[in-house]
Amino acid sequence: MDFKACIFDLDGVIVDTAKYHYLSWKRLADEIGLDFNHSINEQLKGVSRMKSLDTILAQGKLHFNEGKKFSLATRKNDWFIEYLNNMSSNEILPGILQFLDYLDGEGIKKAIGSASKNARLALEKIDLIDRFDVIVDGNMVDKAKPDPEVFLLAAQKMYVEPRKCIVFEDAVAGIKAAHNGSMLCVGIGNPEVLSEADFVIRTFEGLDLKNLLSNKQD
Ligand code: BG6
Ligand code: MG
Repeated sequence: MDFKACIFDLDGVIVDTAKYHYLSWKRLADEIGLDFNHSINEQLKGVSRMKSLDTILAQGKLHFNEGKKFSLATRKNDWFIEYLNNMSSNEILPGILQFLDYLDGEGIKKAIGSASKNARLALEKIDLIDRFDVIVDGNMVDKAKPDPEVFLLAAQKMYVEPRKCIVFEDAVAGIKAAHNGSMLCVGIGNPEVLSEADFVIRTFEGLDLKNLLSNKQD
């Protein structure tokens, strides 16, 4: 296989924290009297905290100053951290541990490329903090997905060329980021939503990477 490294998004790929982001944003939206549903939530996946808040406020045509926005984002984050603190390794998504073991056996490097500033905390809670060669999170980049910065930095830190990396993503913005960085992307989730990905799988359970990649037409 010609690939040297895999880069994983965290939320919704390694662990189902996407549901906690949803519940925390929903609580905030309810408090300020805004509509919030799964379709709006889809636009927030992979997107930074402040950009997510801007999206929610924009659909309600609400304008707040920077101080107010910061305090709203902090409230949302406090609730999200409460969820994180109650997490354990039971919440690692199906098939992930087996897939990480497989990559170790093949000598393929592994990185996290996440927009979240809480990525390290989440990885500690689920006991995976030591399973990756490199962790790049939202504290280390300036540009949010679909900009490829987070994935390019992960590749650089692993000393692997971008075109030798495969990205695993559950978000449309993340798929675009991978492609913007010249990386192949496997979408995790609904093929209709993630149609821009090179391949889409529902779960890591039973994943045979060599077989999947062999279906790619160059
Ligand atoms: C991404 C999530 O991984 O991280 C987004 O998909 C989230 O939903 C973003 O907004 C930023 O996370 P945090 O933890 O820094 O607010
Ligand atoms: Mg995600």
